[in-house]
Parts: sequence; C-alpha cells; structure tokens
Amino acid sequence: MSAYSQMSEKELRTEFGRLKEEYEKIQAMNLALDMSRGKPSSKQLDLSTGVLTAVYDASSAISSNGLDCRNYGVLDGIPEARELMAGLLGVQSDEVVVGGTSSLNLMFDAVSRAMTHGLPESDKPWSLCPDIKFLCPVPGYDRHFSITQHFGIKMIPVEMDENGPNMNKVEALVNNDPTIKGIWCVPKYSNPGGITYSNETVRRFARLNPAAPDFRIFWDNAYSIHDLYEDHQDHLENIMDVCKKYGKEDMVYIFGSTSKISFPGAGLAAIGASKRNIDHICKAMSVQTIGHNKLTQLAHVHFYKDFENMKEFMKKHAAILRPKFEMVLSTLERELKELGIASWVKPNGGYFISLNVMEGCARRTVELCANAGVKLTPAGATYPYGIDPTDSNIRIAPSFPPEEELKVATELLCLCVRMAALERLLARQ
Ligand SMILES: Cc1ncc(COP(=O)(O)O)c(C=O)c1O
Repeated sequence: MSAYSQMSEKELRTEFGRLKEEYEKIQAMNLALDMSRGKPSSKQLDLSTGVLTAVYDASSAISSNGLDCRNYGVLDGIPEARELMAGLLGVQSDEVVVGGTSSLNLMFDAVSRAMTHGLPESDKPWSLCPDIKFLCPVPGYDRHFSITQHFGIKMIPVEMDENGPNMNKVEALVNNDPTIKGIWCVPKYSNPGGITYSNETVRRFARLNPAAPDFRIFWDNAYSIHDLYEDHQDHLENIMDVCKKYGKEDMVYIFGSTSKISFPGAGLAAIGASKRNIDHICKAMSVQTIGHNKLTQLAHVHFYKDFENMKEFMKKHAAILRPKFEMVLSTLERELKELGIASWVKPNGGYFISLNVMEGCARRTVELCANAGVKLTPAGATYPYGIDPTDSNIRIAPSFPPEEELKVATELLCLCVRMAALERLLARQ
C-alpha cells in the first residue's frame, strides 16, 4: 500500500472502484452493529453479578454504624460507601457525597445549583450573569457539552494534546475573563482521546487564579482505575492534594462512579469536594432527597470490600477489554497506517479510541458506515454544539460488541475511511 497523496488520479480511481465493490458486498450482508456508545459488554456485567445478592436479608442490610439500610436516613452516604468512593475519587471520606447511580446526574445538578442559587463565592446565581462560559477541552465527552448547552452556557473549545488541554490558553482565559465559570475535564484516559493529563498540567490547573471567584473545575475522573495493562498504566496526579497545597481546594469538583466497574445506571456515583463545598452541596441536596439508595451502597461495599480490592477487580475488566482494543488498533494499523489519511493514539485505558480521519471526511465516513449497517457516534459529537471545525474526529467505542462483530465493524470502518478520503481527493482533481 502506498500513501494516497502519492497516487495518480488513475490509481485513485482504480482504488476507489475496488473498495466500492467490497463495500457493496458488505452492504448486502445487512449488518446491524453498534460501536457508538461506551457500554460494558454483558461478559463484563457478569463479573459483578454478585453485587445483586450481596445484601440478601435483614441482618445483611445493616451498615457499619448500625443503620438499617432498608429505611430512610443518611444524605451523604453510609460511612463504608463514602470510604470506598473516597478512594476512587482520591479525597478523604468526609470530602465525598455518595449520590445516586449516575455521576452525570451529579454534574448536571452541580451546574443546575450554580445556575439557580449560585455557589458560596457567587454574588448572584449564574443564570443572572448575562454571558457565562465554560471551557471545553476537545475532542471531549458529548454529554458534558449537552449539559452546558442545556443551560445556555456558552462553550469555548480548547484543543487537547498528549499532555491534556492547552494550558496556556486555559490560563489566559480563566485568569482574565470573569464570565468563564468552569471547565469540563476528563483527566485520565479521556473520552475520547485516551489522554491522561501530565503532572505539570494538573499542577497548572491547581495554580489557576480565576477571574471569576465562583469558578469550578469539573474533574470527571470517570476512568480513574480503568487500566488496560498491568505493566504500563498512566499516572494522574491527585488534583485535590495539589489544590490543597495552593489553598485552592474549593476550586474543584471531582466526579466518579462505578458505572464501568459494576453496572451503568445501577451502581454508585459520587462527588468529591472540599468540606466547604460538600456542606453547600448537601444543603441543596437535602431539599432534593431524604437519602440515596443505601442498599446499593452496602451491596457494593460487601462485594468489592475496599478500594484496593476494587482496583484488583478491574484486572478482570481489562482482560475482557484488552483483546478488543488490540484488535481495533491492529486493524487500523494494517488498513490505514501507510495511507497517510488517518491518525490515532493507542490508549492505556478507558473506553475509547479517537480516530482522526482526513479533514472534511468524518461525517461522510460515519454516513458510509451507517449505510452498511454499522452505527458510530455521530461525527461532530466530540465537539461543543456538535461542530467539529475540521470534520475529522470519530470516536470508536470497542467495549460492547462481541469480538467477532467488532472485527467486521472495524474492517468496514477502515474501508469507509478510505472511501471517504478517496471521494475527497478525487473531487479535488
Ligand atoms: C467521561 C464520562 N463521564 C461520565 C460518564 C457517565 O457516567 P455515569 O454513568 O456515572 O453517569 C461517561 C460515560 O460514558 C463518561 O465517558
């Protein structure tokens, strides 16, 4: 295979004709495959089936402090669940609230509270500030962007590199513009890039001097223990520890959940923050609910025991996920590497592979895949407002489909990347 840029028009046309034939054969197979969302596979869900029976009678429903978890009580979580989730978030157990089952829900609520009532440092609710903004490292998580869009908060994209967001830009904006109230971060094995912020990036975050007194870093550490390899794992500095060093612990909200440890939508979610922030959160939360599901909290603690054991448990997930990631990566390597039309980064963990195709080709690639029965995350979804300025980023989620299906889907994806690139190159001739 040679790079498409080195091919003559005739060679490009021949190549396109050959690929189109292949594509039509696949279309005739009537595939219905889905690589669109980062969901655990059923094999992964089976790993945690024991959670379902970890609380099974009245005596097993009593928490460490003697509370009957079948009844009302406790807003911030039973002590052993706070301890477990504190480990996951990297905070002290009195700096965590174990919420419901979704960290995204906790993020939505955090923004919502700030909009309606403001934060402890606010002189007025965010909704009364005429023009407020969030920074959005890109490519990023579409559901973060949906929250800020929902509340009418303007989003400013900030490019990511292998160390995290461009910190020169983050500092210049946050430290000088009081209308910037927050930033979305997925600091470890980012969605979709698989990037882990460098120590220097984390320290620069902790040293921010925001022009807005009520600025918050939304540190969504969704993939904190989701390593694929035992011998080369990414290290993320503990943001709370570093923030404390600079007296900035009120500046960060840390989020996490067991969605990709136990069951998405039926696990535990938590927010970690300074005690001052925790008090503020609980004050509003006490109006929303009497307490969250303590039986689920207790069942998780019974099953996973403690944070160290939970980290050990993650090796079982890695054993299922690793071959899938490796298969996708080796297919990309084999089918695309030498053509000079796509690039990607090999992640050491998380749930995604971020594929950058030739400029102006992402939408068309996703469309070609869809027309042959393979669903991908919509092109543009990884950018605020769904607008990828270069139309080049595609998020691949290898976790859910069985390996055989994933193989077919990835091969089709590569075929579509090539066809979309050829269409564009030929249109330029
Ligand atoms: C970065 C990130 N944050 C949050 C979530 C959702 O988490 P939860 O299930 O806890 O709401 C996801 C799910 O894909 C994610 O990728």
